[in-house]
Amino acid sequence: MSNGHRIEVMHGVNFDVLDRRDPALYGGLSLLELERRIESFAQELGLRVRFFQTNFEGEMVERMHRLAGEADAVLINAGAWTHYAWAIRDALEVAKLPSVEVHLSDVDGREQWRRVSIFEGLCLAKFAGEGPEGYRLGLQALSKALTGTR
Ligand code: DQA
Repeated sequence: MSNGHRIEVMHGVNFDVLDRRDPALYGGLSLLELERRIESFAQELGLRVRFFQTNFEGEMVERMHRLAGEADAVLINAGAWTHYAWAIRDALEVAKLPSVEVHLSDVDGREQWRRVSIFEGLCLAKFAGEGPEGYRLGLQALSKALTGTR
């Protein structure tokens, strides 16, 4: 059954060329194919999703500033920004919405610098290394947070 919660699914830098990135790490899907998968996960959970992708940090920040009233929660894969773009954390904090961080690859099992996440302590959960399935887990976690179920 649909509860109609609105989830803003935000893709950061380099996700527009997802199908040109290392398939061993990122699965070889195009962004559109990934979004179709996310859309079907959302349907199963009765959530409404809206997608946003940008390669410009300022655009991501401005989108976050406008989220209040437009979305109920955020599912974000900020790509490499995750590891150093503190302004994005501050902007997400301004949105005051429950959020979950997701990564296709296992960021904690790769280079040391990918272990840092600017979202730590802000996002309510992080799913990494599960491929597209991580987005399903993220949507589930947000759905639970929004409906107060466990
Ligand atoms: C990523 C992991 C990041 O470290 C990397 O910079 C990306 C993709 C992932 O989904 O695995 O762009 O966020």
